[in-house]
Amino acid sequence: MAGEQPGPGRERQAKIYRDGVFGRRPRVPTDFAGLEAAARRKASVRGWAYVAGGAGEGATMRANRAAFERWAIVPRVLRDVSRRDLSAELFGRRIPAPVLLAPVGAAELLHPEADRAIAGAAADLGLPYIFSSQACFSMEECAAVMGEAPRWFQLYWSRDEGVVDSFLSRAKAAGCEAIVVTLDTTMLGWRPQDLNLGSLPFSRGEGIAQYLTDPRFRELVRERLAAGIGGATPGGRPTFAAVKTLLTMTRKFPGSFAANLRSPEPRAAVETFLETYSRPSLTWEDIATLRDRTDLPVLLKGVLHPDDARRAADMGLDGLVVSNHGGRQVDGAIASLDALPAVAAAVGDRMTVLLDSGVRTGADVLKAVALGADAVLIGRPHAYGLALAGREGARDAVANIVAEFDLTLGLSGLTSIAEATPEILVN
Ligand code: GLV
Repeated sequence: MAGEQPGPGRERQAKIYRDGVFGRRPRVPTDFAGLEAAARRKASVRGWAYVAGGAGEGATMRANRAAFERWAIVPRVLRDVSRRDLSAELFGRRIPAPVLLAPVGAAELLHPEADRAIAGAAADLGLPYIFSSQACFSMEECAAVMGEAPRWFQLYWSRDEGVVDSFLSRAKAAGCEAIVVTLDTTMLGWRPQDLNLGSLPFSRGEGIAQYLTDPRFRELVRERLAAGIGGATPGGRPTFAAVKTLLTMTRKFPGSFAANLRSPEPRAAVETFLETYSRPSLTWEDIATLRDRTDLPVLLKGVLHPDDARRAADMGLDGLVVSNHGGRQVDGAIASLDALPAVAAAVGDRMTVLLDSGVRTGADVLKAVALGADAVLIGRPHAYGLALAGREGARDAVANIVAEFDLTLGLSGLTSIAEATPEILVN
């Protein structure tokens, strides 16, 4: 048919079915339940606890899914959907679909290439990756595999303002196009899966690469050592687990393993990190300082109340991520999707509004966009794809969601995201 474009949905479908003729099945399951089950089989117990786990009894994670399931799409027919434009524009950059890859901390628990593989996957798809403050590869190492592909930086506000400034300027130099300040994790939530294993990746030196490669942070570590405060040394006889942890920390530290093994710096770095990485005293006054500290667009992540949204808009900030951190922080919190309509209405056209937490399918993307999101962030799906097959796995997990989004958009009678309005949904 003249002018028809298969689009990513039909292309991906066709490839999978063609491969099937030769007996090949997709390495990354195309449904979330299958993806989750396969990743769980592959992951270590600690890795699974950290990535799949949530706060408390898991009520917020369930609420996120239930909110998506409460809304139903009402498809329209006979509207010529042979050409569909999935693209979205964020801060002047057009991206092929309204999808970003959310920051994930300590991804090396799932795959040794961690953030670097996710960065590569994002670049393969032309979708932005938001580098995590809790990454296992520095933002510079991730940027190096992305070419000109879009990337943003997620900031945890350190207790040390020098580290904040250093991260902001490194992000700019690494080509990041926006700063996403995460506000819902000034303390880690109560996470029984990790607590029951006594497992916090950062205390083993996992997920702290941004800090270990940061000149200001390294200065703090040296100051700590000069003051005669080293790393924590558990009392009693050293256990096998303690020695193993020490070796992991030492391996993570830049420089030669042999020299690091003799040096007190790796342990001191972990302690410095644990004491400084976030600041529960953070307020709006701190956020107000950002305007003079970076010329990149600033988004606040973790906003769920319309009054907070309005305040951010009044301050002239650029965007929000409506998020409950994938249900990892406050058990019993409102589902992100339930918070979205009021937040979007509160800021109108003044800000870019993104949503994360619970997005698992292409239909979810459509529902979020219809309820006011300019784009969504995917989290666990690409982490699970990473666990299964590194860069290709992360890429396929996100590509599947984009493919399904394309088909769902068209089969609902729509040809662009601008047409996805609340009227296409009922609940
Ligand atoms: C950190 O961002 C986490 O959710 O563990």
